[in-house]
Amino acid sequence: MDQIIVEGGKRLAGEVVISGAKNAALPILASSLLTDGQNTYSNVPALKDIESILVLLSHLGSRIESNYPFIRIDAAGLNNYDAPYDLVRKMRASILVLGPLLARMKRAKVSLPGGCAIGARPINLHLKGLSLLGAEIELQHGYVEARADRLRGNEIFFDVSTVTGTENLMMAAVLAEGTTVLRNAAREPEVVALAEVLKKMGARISGDGTSVVTIEGVPSLSPVSVSILPDRIEAGTFMIASALTGGEVVVKHCEPEHLGALIHKLRQTGAEIEIGQDRLTVCGADEIVSVDVKTLPYPGFATDMQAQFMVLMCVANGQSVISETIFENRFIHVSELRRMGADITVSGNTAMVRGVPHLSGAPVMATDLRASASLILAGLVAHGQTEISRVYHLDRGYESIERKFAGLGAAIRRVRG
Ligand code: EPU
Repeated sequence: MDQIIVEGGKRLAGEVVISGAKNAALPILASSLLTDGQNTYSNVPALKDIESILVLLSHLGSRIESNYPFIRIDAAGLNNYDAPYDLVRKMRASILVLGPLLARMKRAKVSLPGGCAIGARPINLHLKGLSLLGAEIELQHGYVEARADRLRGNEIFFDVSTVTGTENLMMAAVLAEGTTVLRNAAREPEVVALAEVLKKMGARISGDGTSVVTIEGVPSLSPVSVSILPDRIEAGTFMIASALTGGEVVVKHCEPEHLGALIHKLRQTGAEIEIGQDRLTVCGADEIVSVDVKTLPYPGFATDMQAQFMVLMCVANGQSVISETIFENRFIHVSELRRMGADITVSGNTAMVRGVPHLSGAPVMATDLRASASLILAGLVAHGQTEISRVYHLDRGYESIERKFAGLGAAIRRVRG
């Protein structure tokens, strides 16, 4: 298995170009199932998770041409409504085919995704919503089987804000009869990006980006040509890297408006941030100030940035309280950071981080995507060498991560194994 080796101590400087957002691309590629012509996508990141959804779409009968960052998908030949365990277990976001399959094929059989390292991650709210739209749902042998000769609009209230749940319900409701109102809907930019794609296909959606989204069903949708929005989590990871190393990094081709909570927090730590139209320049301070952070649904501080921000707090001056309110087990990076000399105490969903003068390089491994990114960041400021194993987690969600860091002056390399 590949490893990433980082020699700490380099100050990052220069420009980095941000790729398309994984978590926007996944639902948008799944939405191709709603039309029976050729959809064209640009700015699609070359990632393992994107490959996984393409394999699944192809299994369902879609014709796919991929030449990253361009992908063409034609679902005219859709002939299968079964998303099998072997494909879904590789990526839980495969559940995003449930809503569109049900809308287009009137049937869907999708393997239940199960939990992952960061939490149990149930899909009960996806299923409750679909049954309110009139789907008959059965859970058996590890599969969700859903059927509906005709989906009908309804009021759906999400007990908690769910990103892929909102996306699945939007994709089911666009072809339903009548009006659907989603309350306590997720407001993440990726949800808005999907709504924009669906509107371009001819869907009638309003309120996206707010907690009440209204969808009036239409009889059919047409194929589209769209570009995937930039990845705010990748952008945020490089912003933190600059702040962490006292660097000066220009994060290009990003959407500053989607990074409000992080910009606010980084400024409090002492970093200087200049905001451009599609770029941010982040200059790290000589001394990093500790600040408290609590993860929340958008526009709050993203759970997907928590592990990376924690690394900054590990070498800050003072102590910081980090509260994780979205996932119940998203401190899995803590034990690895401790092995690198971090002073962190966890109690329930709260981590107390006391800044230390420096971290020290060590062999480490992580069990989820953002945790792995945090270990690269830790390696950048650690004394000596850090060897990160289980790099496949990074390859699921960060395009060419070591090449991009090396371009900023980091001493980083991949060892194939
Ligand atoms: N939840 C339920 N029932 C449901 C759905 C969710 O209780 O039916 C709970 C979850 O257990 C969690 C909370 O609601 O406590 C929020 O989960 P959400 O459904 O919003 O998460 P998700 O849609 O599965 C997406 C991203 C994650 C990101 C979260 C939160 C995609 C493909 N994934 O997951 O991204 O952390 O939203 O913002 O969009 C990542 O990229 O590394 C990643 C994990």
